[in-house]
Amino acid sequence: MASKRVYLETFGCQMNELDSELVAGRLASLGYAFTSKASEADVVLYNTCSVREQAEQKVWSRLGELREQKADKPGMVVGVLGCMAERDGKGLMDRMPVVDVMCGPGELDKLPALLDNAVRTRESLVADDPNAAVKSVKAVALQGSTSRRSATLAAAEDSLEYLDLSRSVSPIDPVGSLRKSAYVRITRGCNKFCTYCVVPFTRGAEIHRPPAHIVDECQRLADQGVIEITLLGQTVNHYRFEHEAATIAGGVTQPQKGRAFKGGHKRDPLTGERVTTFADLLYEIHEKAPGIQRLRFVTSYPRDFGDDVLEVIRDCPRICRYLHVPAQTGSDRMLKMMNRGYTAQEYDEFVARAREHLHQPEIGRPLMISGDIIVGFPTETDEDFAQTVSLLERSRYKSCFIFKYSPRPGTVAYDKIPDDVPEAVKRVRNNELLAVQNRISDEVSREQVGCVYDILIEGPSQKAIKAAGLSGKQAKKASGGVQLTIGGRSADETDDLSVTAVLERTDSETVQFSGRTDGDQIVMFDADVAEAKALPGQIRRVRITEGSGLTLFGELV
Ligand code: SAH
Ligand code: SF4
Ligand code: F3S
Repeated sequence: MASKRVYLETFGCQMNELDSELVAGRLASLGYAFTSKASEADVVLYNTCSVREQAEQKVWSRLGELREQKADKPGMVVGVLGCMAERDGKGLMDRMPVVDVMCGPGELDKLPALLDNAVRTRESLVADDPNAAVKSVKAVALQGSTSRRSATLAAAEDSLEYLDLSRSVSPIDPVGSLRKSAYVRITRGCNKFCTYCVVPFTRGAEIHRPPAHIVDECQRLADQGVIEITLLGQTVNHYRFEHEAATIAGGVTQPQKGRAFKGGHKRDPLTGERVTTFADLLYEIHEKAPGIQRLRFVTSYPRDFGDDVLEVIRDCPRICRYLHVPAQTGSDRMLKMMNRGYTAQEYDEFVARAREHLHQPEIGRPLMISGDIIVGFPTETDEDFAQTVSLLERSRYKSCFIFKYSPRPGTVAYDKIPDDVPEAVKRVRNNELLAVQNRISDEVSREQVGCVYDILIEGPSQKAIKAAGLSGKQAKKASGGVQLTIGGRSADETDDLSVTAVLERTDSETVQFSGRTDGDQIVMFDADVAEAKALPGQIRRVRITEGSGLTLFGELV
């Protein structure tokens, strides 16, 4: 095939970013090229998110824009990948015939075949039919949410595991960019069924990857120069691998159905070594991949933290003191309606226990916690909301995402509980919480002044990029110098991705850089232009001189 140019844009969570990276790697190895401009692409792919309506609307408007482009270029192939493809199913193609390919997150290993088929079908369609632009070739691979717990899932998982493994065997970054930070999946899917959430339907049942595959992937990434790994799972601390569970070809476990683990995973004295718990996994990666200087994990579930995990984090210097543990609400009544499985008091107890084990500012390692909150869940009263404000005050997160409840078709809340909190009330509560969290973030930042931290340097700050006169899109790329997001970059733009672009356009002697602490706080500092080029990806020590909002400022020491 003549080298087709692909534009790939990613929406949603880190899981999607990783999926995009794996898909891009596969496509690059099959001879596809990449472009950062949708207008230049032969294949436009959107890797989508369904978690809130707003996320889907962005994709609808992108697809709307593509209609005109396709009229001029009827051979173009358009694909919707990810959670929205899985949730909307084929109905999406009926509404938007511009879409040729749909591929759910559980079927991404089939994407190369689907694309190949779609490219060829479109070519012959265009040759025969002057109205080809408005016809979808309908190449579809979806799991179908009704089958999420059926036996066919195990087979689908088998090939999906190969998608993750394919990265280990092809170390070449498809865009050739500097690579210091990477995601590694440990768990797919989710079994929690919080009543508001689409993820269990779009990503399917919870499946834990074999620890040997995970450790091997971390080691290979370390060999390639990666120094920071973020382990991914929807409830990442729920990881548990039973070595003698039934396996299928390729060594992948079948879904461990119907098991509920409460209060974390202590090693079972009866099964002993045959179970790898989350604590075991963290320890094993820490010991076997010492090149990984920062090991993180997201997202944690408040109920699943055993002391064993906290002890491993405390005792392993390269595991970061950072936990993202969404509470969602501070009201027990709401928590129950959300099916979260804990009370506000249990959440408080967890936060206290985590701080007791991990908060050690005296050795330069304070614990930083971040959260997610949903406001305006059905029937939420002022009293419920006041309890959320109070939880935010007690938790003292370094940062918190606040979302307005968005009813998602197919979820229990959508079917059973009318979305009765008016939009205006959601907005007011959202703004009030933002103000409370902004104040707390500001206070937490100020508390860091005078401390000395090791930071992983990312690249020029947004301010420096703007000052260098780079545009928004270029700016995103320049700051992404050590990030891993693909976002439709092409290899010939690698220069733009590097700090060189910023340094060349700077006339002063220093340039502002940014990095992150082990607690995931952003630190800005001025670097000498002379040494700036070598900084991205280095871990360097800074003294914090100022803290405001979400940002710390410091100087290299
Ligand atoms: N697995 C993670 C979260 C995944 S979704 C966890 O359980 O913590 C990321 C965040 O989106 C959630 O934490 C929640 O705050 C928010 N979210 C999910 N569904 C939502 C909905 N229907 N409306 C508004 N926010 C939602
Ligand atoms: Fe969604 Fe709940 Fe699973 Fe998180 S734990 S992905 S919020 S169902
Ligand atoms: Fe969105 Fe799917 Fe992630 S719904 S948040 S992309 S798991």
